[in-house]
Amino acid sequence: MSTLKLKTNINRLVGNVTIPGDKSISHRSVMFGSIAHGETKVTNFLPGDDCLSTISCFRKLGVMIEESDNELRIIGNGFEGLTEPSELLDVGNSGTTIRLLMGILAGRPFFSSLIGDESIGKRPMTRVTVPLSKMGAKLDGRKNGSYTPIAIRGGNLQPIEYELPVASAQVKSSLILAGLQADGVSTIIEPAETRDHTERMIRQFGGEITKDHHTIRVEGGQKLTGTTIRVPGDISSAAFFLVAGAIIPDSEILLENVGLNPTRTGIIEVMQNMGADLEIVQAEDNGFEPSGNLRIKTSNLKGTVVEGNLIPRLIDEIPIIALLATQAEGTTIIKDAEELKVKETNRIDTVVQELNKLGANIEATHDGMIIHGKSKLNGGDVSSHGDHRIGMMLAIAALLCKDKVELARPEAISVSYPNFFSHLNNLIR
Ligand code: S3P
Repeated sequence: MSTLKLKTNINRLVGNVTIPGDKSISHRSVMFGSIAHGETKVTNFLPGDDCLSTISCFRKLGVMIEESDNELRIIGNGFEGLTEPSELLDVGNSGTTIRLLMGILAGRPFFSSLIGDESIGKRPMTRVTVPLSKMGAKLDGRKNGSYTPIAIRGGNLQPIEYELPVASAQVKSSLILAGLQADGVSTIIEPAETRDHTERMIRQFGGEITKDHHTIRVEGGQKLTGTTIRVPGDISSAAFFLVAGAIIPDSEILLENVGLNPTRTGIIEVMQNMGADLEIVQAEDNGFEPSGNLRIKTSNLKGTVVEGNLIPRLIDEIPIIALLATQAEGTTIIKDAEELKVKETNRIDTVVQELNKLGANIEATHDGMIIHGKSKLNGGDVSSHGDHRIGMMLAIAALLCKDKVELARPEAISVSYPNFFSHLNNLIR
């Protein structure tokens, strides 16, 4: 197993980072480009391992996709242009790829099989296989359709009216993609608002979808037309530098081109509540996905409570928020976040275990964690457990450590941020 000696005990972080493309939007740009009619051009695409898995799956489904320098050219021929793959569709580590792809394949009149890595093999799939089966697709998998490998034979779909049992954009999006192929109007009700990139992208491709509070309606049989997508930077990647800038002494970082979709900006609200010196210095909106520049400076932080409807708006940022809270005065409570247990790792366990090894004081709870600040971090041997966000969080934690820190399985970071270490090293003074 590979290990990496992390930089520790640094003086300060200063400079600018241009944040790479958003992972969720990059996946969707490939998928919508593939099911639309005509040419789609994508710029600032994220060439992370997860998004490359999505490209590879759609190529196996017969779609022409050219890729160079973070740009894509996709030639779509509608849903009907997808053809039966002769090989297994391998989604690697990507939950978004497998769950959204199942929604697309549910309406295609052919057979396909989906596999992924060891982590994907532990993630629950019934949350999509159950409603997609209700719509008329045939799906099966290990343990009664719960886990990969998943086999699908798609076909004619009936519209669905479905209340999501969990607040999940992946499940919502999977049903929207199936709904686009159904014979009538599908209605999906979310328990709390989740990221709405799928809805925004349908409009960008000339389609229609409505949202009334937590109820989404989409009609099947719409024709989507190829377009040009500029992917904004990923706020989930920016989060590592936002927290680093706040907790390392004498720091100031400007983060450029950060996606500011309000369904994703929970981290900004939490940091500002905790007292962070964080401001949006420039914002723009292209009518589909807003973005802007963020400036963060070293901050005096206090503990907070993160709960309820805020959780889906920062679900992927909880590992780095936990690190932030170790450097805040007082206690921080994170609750209503059971979903953390079914991410790339059980992120309640991996965050608590790895940060406590470095000297933090965090207790796991059934739906989150309690973090007692402020802790001195020392050093030690830690692991990403194969989870990109745990790996990056530990690399930021190490910057504060007095002693040596060695990270096992650092390669996981390329799932969402292949240039992470070069961007970090450019800021270290
Ligand atoms: C994603 C949705 C979230 C998030 C994941 C990306 C998406 O997952 O954690 O990293 O692109 O739709 P859930 O929908 O399972 O909460």
